[in-house]
Amino acid sequence: MRTQLTALITGASGGIGVRISRALAADGYRIIAVGRDEERLSDLCDAVHTSGGECTALSCDLGNPAAIEALLPQVRNLCTSLDVLVNNAGTADTQPLSETSLESWNHHMQVNATAPFLLSTGLLELLIRAAHPTIINIGSVVSYVGYEGQGAYAASKHALLGLTRVMAREYQAHGIRVHIVAPGGTATDMVQRMRPDLDLDGMITPEEVAGVVLDLTRMKGNAVIDEVRIRRAGGTPFP
Ligand SMILES: NC(=O)c1ccc[n+]([C@@H]2O[C@H](COP(=O)([O-])OP(=O)(O)OC[C@H]3O[C@@H](n4cnc5c(N)ncnc54)[C@H](OP(=O)(O)O)[C@@H]3O)[C@@H](O)[C@H]2O)c1
Repeated sequence: MRTQLTALITGASGGIGVRISRALAADGYRIIAVGRDEERLSDLCDAVHTSGGECTALSCDLGNPAAIEALLPQVRNLCTSLDVLVNNAGTADTQPLSETSLESWNHHMQVNATAPFLLSTGLLELLIRAAHPTIINIGSVVSYVGYEGQGAYAASKHALLGLTRVMAREYQAHGIRVHIVAPGGTATDMVQRMRPDLDLDGMITPEEVAGVVLDLTRMKGNAVIDEVRIRRAGGTPFP
């Protein structure tokens, strides 16, 4: 009998997270869907159940370390091993550095970098028990580039890249593969909030990002792709 694989996806209530959750569910994973918007999480789980899959929603404000601490035992109650952890939840505001409050700076750091750190370390024991454990962090083009007006967001996504690089090396001894997937503009609510001036037609689709995540989870052989930078077809190559 095939043991059921389990994947935890944060930000499963958002544009990219819903698509990653559905893609992994269709590939046979039991989904643990983490986010704040309980209605959207419930819609996701209903859709997964309708397709014959398994999905459990866990509500958590990843901006609050105490809430993450409370989430960890709930995850341990749901599974004895964790095959895939996707740190996808993210927050982004547009504001010049001179107008960025300490509160906003700290919030970006907490959700985009500290939460992946706390989850990846807090769930380490469950990951180690999986046959092919994988952590995928969703970075951004601003993990590599510093666009004006995105200081707190870019700093937090650079931090996530640094975390990913160290974790990939430290966790290699545990057999855990750690990747970063860094998309450019993707057609979700986030990009509409940040760049209302941009046309969604030429954007990367959230399904395309989910397809890359799915491909990484399927690579269990001798070849490993550490990072994937995804850009819009109409954007500048090698940004
Ligand atoms: N869209 C883009 O152009 C783009 C480009 C590069 C990278 N990314 C990255 O892709 C990831 C997904 O973004 P998206 O485009 O799908 O945006 P989105 O539709 O706005 O979704 C963001 C997700 O993050 C969750 N989230 C935000 N703050 C949270 C908090 N405090 N606690 C728990 N969950 C929280 C949201 O959950 P709730 O709604 O339930 O709070 C939502 O599920 C992010 O890491 C983002 O930085 C996006």
